[in-house]
Amino acid sequence: MKFPVTRAAVLKPKPDPSTLIFGKTFTDHMFLMDYTAGQGWHDGRIVPYGPFQLEPSAMVFHYAQEVFEGLKAYRNPQGGVQLFRPIENARRINSSCERMCIPQIPEETFVSAVEQLVELEADWVPDQKGTSLYIRPFIIATTPSLGVHAAHDYLFCIITCPVGSYYPEGINPVKIYIENEDVRAVRGGTGYTKCGGNYAASIRAGERAEEQGYSQVLWLDGVYRKYIEEVGAMNVLFKIDGRVVTPALEGSVLPGITRKSCLELLRDWGVPVEERRITAEELFDAAESGRLEEAWGSGTAAVVSPIGELAWGDRKVIVNGGAIGETTQKLYDTLTGIQWGTLPDPHGWVVKLP
Ligand code: PLP
Ligand code: COI
Repeated sequence: MKFPVTRAAVLKPKPDPSTLIFGKTFTDHMFLMDYTAGQGWHDGRIVPYGPFQLEPSAMVFHYAQEVFEGLKAYRNPQGGVQLFRPIENARRINSSCERMCIPQIPEETFVSAVEQLVELEADWVPDQKGTSLYIRPFIIATTPSLGVHAAHDYLFCIITCPVGSYYPEGINPVKIYIENEDVRAVRGGTGYTKCGGNYAASIRAGERAEEQGYSQVLWLDGVYRKYIEEVGAMNVLFKIDGRVVTPALEGSVLPGITRKSCLELLRDWGVPVEERRITAEELFDAAESGRLEEAWGSGTAAVVSPIGELAWGDRKVIVNGGAIGETTQKLYDTLTGIQWGTLPDPHGWVVKLP
């Protein structure tokens, strides 16, 4: 499948890769494809990056019928460009679409659109250590209508931006705050999808955490408010008594591709892994009795981010003396080594672009 390209008349200057802030600079082109009821997905195309026109009554503005994805392209040591597990993003956007009554996109169309856009924007993939090109595919409901039901028309768009680390801390440990008031998701809701509404509902707690000097919120389950779920933009993993424990995927947690990759690597290394429910009480008891060895988050934007401090009400713990732990470091080094092409890729996760 080859999509037609309309090139931008003027190309933007590339930013200095040492000053990149996550999600602020966009490249010269974007991918667009329309969906019309009765016709399906049609007119995939690459065009200059720029605003699009929508009616004020477009359904996405009112009822948030929207899904998105996040993946990255990396510059390898040979000077080429490679993607990390794009098929997983294709599968996950379709799982999100199913929940949100948005028509699914054939996996090969999704991956091909990502590949062709990144190939065109290859000069935008930075080569400084720790930098990459973040890719943001998303689908919005465009039908002008105020009735609450599935739209008949959708727009699929992919934009890309060169990025450095997501947290200003870089690989240094972040401080995380456990939220007791707001909840992000419940089983039966949309927690396992990447829909904008999940993030809209998370902003208040995130703002409160930031005001108190924390980077992000760690969510508890929405029913009992005692089981740990995930962090704002990452899944969360703990090393307790030599075993890695992470919340099971039971419908309210996003099935992270970085999480899955970390678990596959840990299993390769023979580290015992438990995907199960874990309460905040168990976590803090482990920390206070010296059995919480490490804590970290995993995500495309955040990669592997050590957690140096956890706060829950008036309980506060410093993890591993506030330093990055051995397993966290090994996961970071191995995963980024595979992503940037400096280590072998035994699982075949990397897709090299021509
Ligand atoms: N959890 C949430 C809420 C996220 O937004 C993300 C980021 O995409 C993740 C987890 C990690 O998922 P992934 O590793 O697929 O990027
Ligand atoms: C990602 O890691 O790709 C994400 O989507 C996180 C985002 C909410 C910033």
